[in-house]
Amino acid sequence: MCGIVGAVASRDITPVLVEGLKRLEYRGYDSCGVAVHADGGLKRARTVSRVAELDREVAQSKLAGFTGIAHTRWATHGAPAVANAHPHFSRERIALVHNGIIENHDELRGELKARGYVFESQTDTEVIAHLVDHLYQGDLFEAVKTAVKRLHGAYAIAVFCRDEPHRVVGARAGSPMIVGIGKGENFLASDAMALAGVTDQIIYVEEGDVIDVQRDRVWIVDRDGREMTAAERPVKTVHAHSGAVELGPYRHYMQKEIFEQPRALGDTLQGVEQINASLFGEKAQTTFQEVDSVLILACGTSYYSGVTAKYWLESIAKIPCNVEVASEYRYRESVPNPNTLVVTITQSGETADTLAALRHAQSLGMKHTLTICNVATSAMVRECALAYITRAGVEIGVASTKAFTTQLVGLFLLTLTLAKQRGKLDEAQEAAHLKALRHIPTALQAILALEPQVIAWAEEFARKENALFLGRGLHYPIALEGALKLKEISYIHAEAYPAGELKHGPLALVTSEMPVVVVAPNDTLIEKLKSNMQEVRARGGELFVFADGDSAIGSSEGVHVIRMPEHYGVLSPILHVVPLQLLAYHTAIARGTDVDKPRNLAKSVTVE
Ligand code: M6R
Repeated sequence: MCGIVGAVASRDITPVLVEGLKRLEYRGYDSCGVAVHADGGLKRARTVSRVAELDREVAQSKLAGFTGIAHTRWATHGAPAVANAHPHFSRERIALVHNGIIENHDELRGELKARGYVFESQTDTEVIAHLVDHLYQGDLFEAVKTAVKRLHGAYAIAVFCRDEPHRVVGARAGSPMIVGIGKGENFLASDAMALAGVTDQIIYVEEGDVIDVQRDRVWIVDRDGREMTAAERPVKTVHAHSGAVELGPYRHYMQKEIFEQPRALGDTLQGVEQINASLFGEKAQTTFQEVDSVLILACGTSYYSGVTAKYWLESIAKIPCNVEVASEYRYRESVPNPNTLVVTITQSGETADTLAALRHAQSLGMKHTLTICNVATSAMVRECALAYITRAGVEIGVASTKAFTTQLVGLFLLTLTLAKQRGKLDEAQEAAHLKALRHIPTALQAILALEPQVIAWAEEFARKENALFLGRGLHYPIALEGALKLKEISYIHAEAYPAGELKHGPLALVTSEMPVVVVAPNDTLIEKLKSNMQEVRARGGELFVFADGDSAIGSSEGVHVIRMPEHYGVLSPILHVVPLQLLAYHTAIARGTDVDKPRNLAKSVTVE
C-alpha cells in the first residue's frame, strides 16, 4: 500500500528518496513520484510506471535538492494516473504526500473551490495540500497543526513548502509513520525499511503527533498539544537491513519466501525449550489464568491461520474460540466478554481493519489482548498487552507464505500453553508435541522437494479459469488458504469448501473443466473425504489430491495424486499448505502474472 519517504539534509537527497521508494515497492503500488526543493521552487517527477522508471526520469531531468518527499501510491480515490500520483502541489508553494483516506474530502473540496483553489486530481490528498496552503501564514508547522484538526479519517502526511526549504512537516492519525535520525540530516517514512542503509535510529510517530523535521532538530507536538523535542521520545535501533530485500538465487520473493520456511519456522521455535506462558510476555501467566475463551481477529491469510487455531484450541486446550474477520467484527454489534483473550493475528502489524477491530474490542471492555505478529516494532505490538513475535523475517511477496506457517507455530504454542494451564496437557504430551514441532523444518524440506511434481500440475491449472479446493476439519482452512493464494496471484477464480458441503451446492459447478484440489491428510476424516472425492468423479470432475504417504489413495483415471510424507498429526496443516503455495506460484508463473505484485493488491493494507 502507499509508502512515504521524506528528508532534510545538506546533500542532494533525491537518490535517498528514490532508493527509499524501491525499498517500499514490496508494499504494492500503482504510481509513484518525488518532489524536491530546487532553484527556489518545487520540482517533481511522477509516473504510473515502476520506481525504476521514476529513477530514470529523475536522472534525465537532473532533479536534485536538499529537501524532498517521495511516495508510492496505491489508488483509492481516482484511478492510477500521473495527475493522481503524489506529491501533490498547491499553488506551486506546498508539496504533500499522503497515506490513508480522508473521509470528509468532499466537504473540504467544496470549501476550497469556493476560495478559488483549482483541483488537478480526483484524490482526497490534493484537498490536504490546498488546505495547508490556505492556512499557511509563513510557518508550515503551524499550518499543518491547524490543518489536521479539520481532517476526518486516516492519514500519514509529509509536507514541505517552497518558502521554508529547511523543514519537512509530518503528521499521523491511523496510518504508520516513523522519523529516522541521521547525522546532520533527518528523515520521515511510513516504514523503517525505507531508510535501510541510511539510518537505523528510529522514533515511532505516535497517534495524533505533528512533527517538524529539520536538519539538526526534530520537534514534536502530541495529540494533547504538548510540545517536545525528539529526545523525549524513545529512539529505537531498528535493523531493517537491506539484505532482507535481496532476491538471492530466486526468481521472485514469493519463491524465496516459500523456500525460506524451514529456516523461518526454525527461528520462530528457537529458545522454546518448554511450554511456558512467558513465551507470550511477562504478564501472560496472570492473563491466561483469567481468561475463559479466545476471540481471534484477523484478515486474509492471517484469518485462515486463526481458523486453523480454532480447531487446535477447542480440541487440545478445550477452550471456546471464535474467529472473526476484523473488518466485520469492528462494525457489528457483538456480546463482549471481559474474560476473553483477544488474539489479533497479523504479519505486518499495521493492517487498518485488524487494528480497528482490536481497538473496538478494547472499547467494549476486553482488556486481555495478545498479538501474533511478525513485526516487533509495529503498531499492533505496541497496542496489545501481550505479543508473540514470529520470526519469519521480512515478507515482501504480496502473497503471504512464511508468515502464515510461522503464525501457525505461534498459535500452536498458544494452544499448548493454554492446554497446560488448564490441566489438559500432561508431560508426555507436551514432550511429544515439542518434538514434532522441532522436526517440522526437516519435514518441510521433504515437501519442498515435491516442487517438480507440482510444476507439472501447474501447467494444467494455468489453462483453467476456475478451481475448487476441498478440505475437512483442520484442513478446511488450508483449502481456503490454497484458494486465496491461487486467486490472488494467478487471477484464476478459486473457491474453497469443506468437502462435506459439496452436495449442498458447489457440486453443480463440477464438470471436466473444473479442477478440484483435495487436501487429503490421512486423519480420522479420510474415509469421509474419499466419499466426497467419489461425488466429484461421478460428475466427471478431475481430482488433484495431496495425499499423505501412509494413506491408500492412489492415482487412477481423473485422479492425480501427489504423495506427501507420512501423516503429521495435528501439525499436518503446516505441511499441507506448502504444496498449495507452490501450486499457486507455478500456476501464476505459467500465466505470466506479476507474482510478487499482483494487480490491485498491496502488501500492507493500511487503509480501511
Ligand atoms: O499483515 P496482515 O497479516 O494483517 O495482512 C492481512 C491480509 O491483508 C493478508 O494476509 C493478505 O490476505 C495476503 N495478501 C494474503 O496472501
